[in-house]
Amino acid sequence: MTAPVKVLITAGALLALAALAAACGTQRINVASPSPLHEGAALFNQRCSGCHTLSYAAANGSASNVRSGQFNNGPNFNVRCERPVDRVLYAIANGGFSGQIMPQNIVVGQQAADVAKFVATYAGRQAPKVPGAIQCDQQPVGTITTSQSSSSGGATATTRTALTPGQGGIPGATTPAIGANKKKKK
Ligand code: HEC
Repeated sequence: MTAPVKVLITAGALLALAALAAACGTQRINVASPSPLHEGAALFNQRCSGCHTLSYAAANGSASNVRSGQFNNGPNFNVRCERPVDRVLYAIANGGFSGQIMPQNIVVGQQAADVAKFVATYAGRQAPKVPGAIQCDQQPVGTITTSQSSSSGGATATTRTALTPGQGGIPGATTPAIGANKKKKK
């Protein structure tokens, strides 16, 4: 390789690096202000970005590589659809859906509602297209129902409302009588 070619390649690589660095440095919240959605994005950036990725809130906390990921890295909301909004509010109050890893009630009350609306509106915009599945932006964002918002009150919340079939219970499920599943003795 001749010297001028080497210089050109090095210069090109440096330019590419500079462009990358600039892109990182300029990432910021990408939701018009003032609006409750911007409020939600700002809160997401402060409270959720350590564990979740969502470009509209300049958040990069999800694991970028399964090998280097940590157990508490949360889902990447650039690609994961989170509709309707009630689902997000439930996850905030419950600590994700399993309630095992993500802390509960990181935001409560109106702040939780703002964050939930922001996530439901902006998550899933880079979701891969799956044939036959409804695209995220075609699914309704929905509205926050009162039973959910009362349980998101954190310390001031009163008793939690019991799950009704529509909220994830199993419709028509009954508790089997004790011993019903025991194998018959031979
Ligand atoms: C300490 C890390 C951490 C923080 C902080 C955190 N999360 Fe999570 N989150 C997780 C993990 C891990 C999961 C997956 C939990 C599971 O499967 O049990 C999760 C799951 C979720 C889910 C359910 C996603 C799905 O489709 O399964 C939602 C919604 C969510 N988080 C929203 C939020 C919001 C909003 C905030 C900020 C208010 C937040 N998270 C802060 C770690 C975190």
